[in-house]
Amino acid sequence: MLHKSPVTNVSTATVGKNNKHDSAERHIKGTALYIDDIREPQGTLHLAPGYAQASCGKIKSLDLSAVKSAPGVVAVLTAKDIPGVNDCSPAMGDDMILADGHILFHGQVIFVVAATSHLEARKAARLAKIEIEETVPMVTVEDGLEKDASVLPPYEFLRGSPDEVIKSSPNQIADSFHIGGQEHFYLEGQIAMAIPGDDGEILVHSSTQHPTEIQHTVAKMLGVQDAAVVCECRRMGGAFGGKESQAAQWATLSALAAHVTGRPAKMRLDRDDDMIMTGKRHDQACHWQAGYDDQGKLTAVNVEFNSRCGCSADLSLGVNDRTMFHADNSYYYPQARILSRRVMTNTVSNTAFRGFGGPQGMVFSERMMDTIAIKLGMDPLDVRKINFYGDEDRNITPFGMKVQDNILDELVSELENTSDYRNRRKEINAFNKKSPFLKKGLALNPVKFGISFTLKHLNQAGALVHVYTDGSVQVNHGGTEMGQGLYTKVAQVVAEEFGIDLEHVRITATKTDKVPNTAPTAASSGSDMNGMAAKHAAETIKDRLIELASKLYQVEKTAVRFANNKVQVGDKEIAFAELTQQAFLERVSLSSTGYYATPHITWDRDTKDGRPFLYFAYGACCAEVTIDTLTGEMKVNRIDILHDVGKSLNPAIDIGQIEGGFVQGMGWLITEELVYDDQGRLRTHAPSTYKIPTASDVPEDFRVSLWNSSGNREDTIYRSKAVGEPPVMLATAVFSAVTNAIASISPGQVPQINTPATPENILRSVQDMKKRDRKAGA
Ligand code: MTE
Ligand code: MOS
Repeated sequence: MLHKSPVTNVSTATVGKNNKHDSAERHIKGTALYIDDIREPQGTLHLAPGYAQASCGKIKSLDLSAVKSAPGVVAVLTAKDIPGVNDCSPAMGDDMILADGHILFHGQVIFVVAATSHLEARKAARLAKIEIEETVPMVTVEDGLEKDASVLPPYEFLRGSPDEVIKSSPNQIADSFHIGGQEHFYLEGQIAMAIPGDDGEILVHSSTQHPTEIQHTVAKMLGVQDAAVVCECRRMGGAFGGKESQAAQWATLSALAAHVTGRPAKMRLDRDDDMIMTGKRHDQACHWQAGYDDQGKLTAVNVEFNSRCGCSADLSLGVNDRTMFHADNSYYYPQARILSRRVMTNTVSNTAFRGFGGPQGMVFSERMMDTIAIKLGMDPLDVRKINFYGDEDRNITPFGMKVQDNILDELVSELENTSDYRNRRKEINAFNKKSPFLKKGLALNPVKFGISFTLKHLNQAGALVHVYTDGSVQVNHGGTEMGQGLYTKVAQVVAEEFGIDLEHVRITATKTDKVPNTAPTAASSGSDMNGMAAKHAAETIKDRLIELASKLYQVEKTAVRFANNKVQVGDKEIAFAELTQQAFLERVSLSSTGYYATPHITWDRDTKDGRPFLYFAYGACCAEVTIDTLTGEMKVNRIDILHDVGKSLNPAIDIGQIEGGFVQGMGWLITEELVYDDQGRLRTHAPSTYKIPTASDVPEDFRVSLWNSSGNREDTIYRSKAVGEPPVMLATAVFSAVTNAIASISPGQVPQINTPATPENILRSVQDMKKRDRKAGA
């Protein structure tokens, strides 16, 4: 059944239009200011990190004399220079800013050099003599499991008795596979610049998704009040979750150097250092069993995720919880056990990455669907469909939330038609029969992604709107701009409210002294929350203007309307700027804050009950690939995407997010491979060895459409839906299509393949299939 709610048709002038990203032209011209483009104040120092070549052990000796006497060096800082708390963790207090006594991973910063130039600092940092009394590092998830090492306790959802039900089901299956990690590879690396001010105050420019946390962490490190620290971020050159907690270390180090030397200090990580020293997407070892009937319908699921968290907790609680919240993707599990172990290793602490653990959960569910289809000789799409969430008796998730906005059947059927799935399936079967070496694969996978922070208190936002007497407007809010177009969307909302053109709304940098106590820009909730907060601020000012106009012109309040840069007052029309001028003369305030707290969120992690998400975002992707069974090479032939953004705030930006998210997800599942050596050192720390997708990897035939939505069932900003993360998970269709192509070699056999499905991994899987096929045939 459909659960579409009737949405009042609001006609809008700016919201819902394809306004270009506010910085689009400056991005292209290179005139958009990133932190490294800000003119450095006179005397600015440049910092470089120093670290040891070991992964784990006690710091036996640290000789920094050569570093100190190197040219240009002004200061060399170690843990003992920190006046306050030596911690830059987001929650658990377990991430040292500078190592003290022990190191826990290769790349952990032990000291920092402040010099008069970036190059001098980097050269000097290499002159340290560090002796480590090494112990054997735990590198892989299996190493950590063996030692029972964890950063956080395990967590489990349990419904019914899945083990018993699996045993008594008509069919059972058990499988293990590995889900790879991912480097963020934001184009602008980690960077911060701290400028000391009057009376111990400090201003920190940070490329961060979470200015409030930078403010707080810097204050804690310096041992000063939060009120003495301001954090500012105009934009990031990409973040993708990698600057939610991971920006703090560089911001605190800059602030420390500024505090110690009294000079401005800037820290910009070199790309290799950035890749070695900052956390990534969690890779996971996944073990699962399922029971199902002869039609492919699940009876019970039992899945374990063993997650490589690295050396500390960082955001591993929320990330791994979200893996569990999405281990069902779009499917109803009548009985389920979903367990997540948060394994400790001597590798960099893993962190948020677009989807925040959700993608790992979904890759599992999609592998399970593919596996069942192969075992039963069914079309994988039919297995998916039969397991979709449905009506009353099939709409409760394993964590107890009711799925009330389900559009899976409709959306997937539409994509099935527009992508010509059934005909292409026949063509591909025919092709594979007569093609000995090239094999094609096809998959159509759904996405259902929960929107809201699962930590309830993060679901709040603030905004600050100023209207000036010339009718121009400034908007500020707690959200940060990382390329996703949040600033543009929020400006559209404010322009809409005042009935003025977008060019009259000036976007300003996110700054903790303008809007305090904010949540990170994450969980895709930026426009939902900050859009609403900014709307509330604008409404407050507008209400005052309406009251003034009705008084001045003796009309009913309902007769005051804002549109086309004008205000209609009864049968009179005045310029918006005229009314704002009048407001000033009549002593009416033209400035207001706005606030929003997401409603209906009731999740309680301890009792495992309540509602974690306000709503779900849906989408589906049909992927066709060709693999070469002799070389393992793979080519994506065609991608069709249908994605639900509710009533879009800006279709052009949303389509950009879908395209970018999909390609990033594809990189994760296909080409991006993180390799650690047995000493725990990351070997793939540059683009020479780590392959992210480039323009030439974008599918040649790439068709993206927005679902024709009547609007979000929930009362979100203009009934839109979040779009930042969900499209990443559309890329599971590419992995499934690869599985499908390999499976064609030996019908009925399930290919063993981990993610990423690199050419090497595809070739390995193909050869294994051929071997099994020969045995089966013998
Ligand atoms: N898009 C661009 N261009 N750059 C980014 O860094 N980050 C993604 C997504 N889209 C990102 C992006 C992530 S991880 C999130 S959570 C959301 O944007 C955050 O922004 P939003 O809440 O405004 O969608
Ligand atoms: Mo996004 S991973 O929630 O920053």
